[in-house]
Order: sequence, then structure tokens, then C-alpha cells
Amino acid sequence: VVLLVTDRNVAPLHAGPVAATLGAGGARVELVVLEPGEQHKNPAAVVELWRRALGAGADRTSLVVGLGGGVVTDVAGFAAGTYMRGVRWAAFPTTLLGMVDASVGGKTAVDLGTAKNAVGAFWQPSSVVCDLEFLRTEPERGYVGALAEVAKSALIGDRVLFDLLESRAGAVLARDPGALGEVVRRSVAVKAGVVGRDEREAGLRAVLNLGHTVGHALEAAGGYRELSHGEAVSLGLVAALRIGCALGRTSADLVGRVMALLGSLGLPTVLDRARLEAATSLLAQDKKRAGGSLRFVVVEGVGQVSTVRLGLGELARLVSAAT
Ligand SMILES: NC(=O)c1ccc[n+]([C@@H]2O[C@H](COP(=O)([O-])OP(=O)(O)OC[C@H]3O[C@@H](n4cnc5c(N)ncnc54)[C@H](O)[C@@H]3O)[C@@H](O)[C@H]2O)c1
Ligand SMILES: [Zn+2]
Repeated sequence: VVLLVTDRNVAPLHAGPVAATLGAGGARVELVVLEPGEQHKNPAAVVELWRRALGAGADRTSLVVGLGGGVVTDVAGFAAGTYMRGVRWAAFPTTLLGMVDASVGGKTAVDLGTAKNAVGAFWQPSSVVCDLEFLRTEPERGYVGALAEVAKSALIGDRVLFDLLESRAGAVLARDPGALGEVVRRSVAVKAGVVGRDEREAGLRAVLNLGHTVGHALEAAGGYRELSHGEAVSLGLVAALRIGCALGRTSADLVGRVMALLGSLGLPTVLDRARLEAATSLLAQDKKRAGGSLRFVVVEGVGQVSTVRLGLGELARLVSAAT
């Protein structure tokens, strides 16, 4: 049995050919269509998958396929990791974020109320299939937002990717498969390279947080409505570059170059004072962090990052000076 998991938006667009391909080898394909959106990335969705798998007679030899954005692959992967103590799964990401981020690294999870990714497991997919055709129908805001993660990956570890984004921003925005193939391959390689050296997040994986410390605070300060995750990451990258500049690690030239790139990809780069103040107070309030300090990721050059331990007070001061 192959459990083909997708959502109500993706099913009519892309499930038919995938189901036909999976069934061609003789396997019985059981289609499960979940409700779309982050609010449905919850334990109830996982329970539904377990029940459908059981009802279809799925056993330890069965395969779960997640066809959709990060919500679908996170739910499908977690259900696969727990059904009968773990069955194989494959990711067929249909969003750019799914291809360059959510399907790479083996993290699977669902939210518990407002606690994002509160319950999950490390459970690697046995394969990931990125068909660029899927991206033609992805909604624009999510697609552009994912380009912030692509720019992040370029800054972390790939100068060639950075140059490619600069020289082919128009083609990338137009979702030209010629330009996108290279962009997806290179982004995956950066994340896979980092995760491969630190699968369970002992330390090195922290560089993937570039732009996310301030980005998450901005996203939360906007009540998760004003800014999408990708837009918040774009602004978080600008803040991280300015902070790197204040710490003497990042050149002013590079700050300008990255802002121009993000702008040409359709991402926001203007940090307004009110937003930054709200984010600063959220960061300063965050008492969960060990010893009141965190490892902040700064950019030394394109493709080269390092971390600096900063006290929360120091970080708050640097963030509010980052306009
Ligand atoms: N596991 C990880 O390591 C990891 C990493 C990054 C993000 N994530 C998770 O990924 C999720 C976000 O993923 P996302 O940005 O893909 O959002 P998403 O899965 O919510 O998809 C966005 C919307 O687009 C629709 N959609 C998806 N593909 C489509 C297509 N090809 N054509 C038309 N519509 C399509 C979906 O139905 C949904 O409404 C978050 O829950 C986040 O936590 C996980
Ligand atoms: Zn992110």
C-alpha cells in the first residue's frame, strides 16, 4: 500500500499524475486529502493518517508519500515516523520552500495550539522528488518568501548561488525552470551539507538560523499576520547584516549588495522603527534561552558565516540600532 497524502489545494492540480505513476508498478494507492494551511498542521491530521493507513491495511513495508507544501510533508513525515514504529516515506514537495527547506534535513513535526512544531521526530525521507512543474501553480507570496531562504543559503555557503540570484533574479521570479533547477539544487546542497554534519542539532546546524533570530521576533510581533515567514526572514537578514556591521564582521558594501538582491527578488528590506521596537521587546522578554544569551549568526562574506555569543540585552540594543 502507498498512502498518498496531499491537501485540498494540491490534489486537483497535481495528485492525478503522481497517483498514476505510483500505481503503475502495481501498488495500491490510497489517497488522503488533508485540509490545507498551518492551522491544520496538528495532531488530528496525524491521527487521521494513522487511521487511514490502518484501514487500508498498511504494514511495515508500506510507503507514505507527502505531496504538497511544508505542511503536508511535515504531517506525512511525522505520521510515517510513528505508524508501526516507523515506515518509509517520500517527499514530493510542491512549493519552493518545501523543496529547498522543509524536505531537507529529516525534521518532521506538527503544532500544538500556538506552539509551532511542538511534537515531532527526526525521520528522514527515503527519497525527495522535486518536480519544478509543481511550482507553476504555487501562490506568489509563498514562492517569493521562499526566495529569502534561498538567499540565506547562498550567504551561508554558496557564492555561485548568490551570483546566480543576482544575475538571474528576473528569471528566478518568473519561475523559469532553466534558472530554477540550479537554484534548487544548490540550495538543497547547502542545507544538506550543514545537516549532514549535525543531524540532531548539536551546534553547527545553528548557522541555518541566519536571519531567523530577528526574523522570528518580527513575525511574532506582527501577530503572524502582517509578515509571512519569508518576508520576516528577509527583514531578519537585513538586521543580521547590519548587526554584523556594528560588530565589525560584515562590510557596509555587503549590506547594500544583499539589500539590493532581496529587493530585486520582491522581498521587503525596510526595517521600520515601530516594528523593530516590538521585536526588540519580544527578544528581551524571551527568558527561555540558556543563561540569557544566544549564538547569533553573522555574515563575514558571501558564503561565509560565523556565530557570536550575545547577551539578550546586547542583542536588543543592536537590534534597535539596526534601522
Ligand atoms: N521540516 C522542516 O525542516 C521545515 C523547514 C521549513 C518549513 N517547514 C514547515 O513548512 C510549512 C510551510 O510550508 P509552505 O510554505 O510550503 O506552506 P504550505 O504547505 O502551507 O503551502 C502553502 C499553500 O500553498 C498551497 N500549495 C502548495 N503547493 C501548491 C502548488 N504547487 N500549487 C498551488 N497551491 C499549492 C497549499 O495548499 C497551501 O495552501 C510550515 O509549517 C513550516 O513549519 C518545515
Ligand atoms: Zn525559515
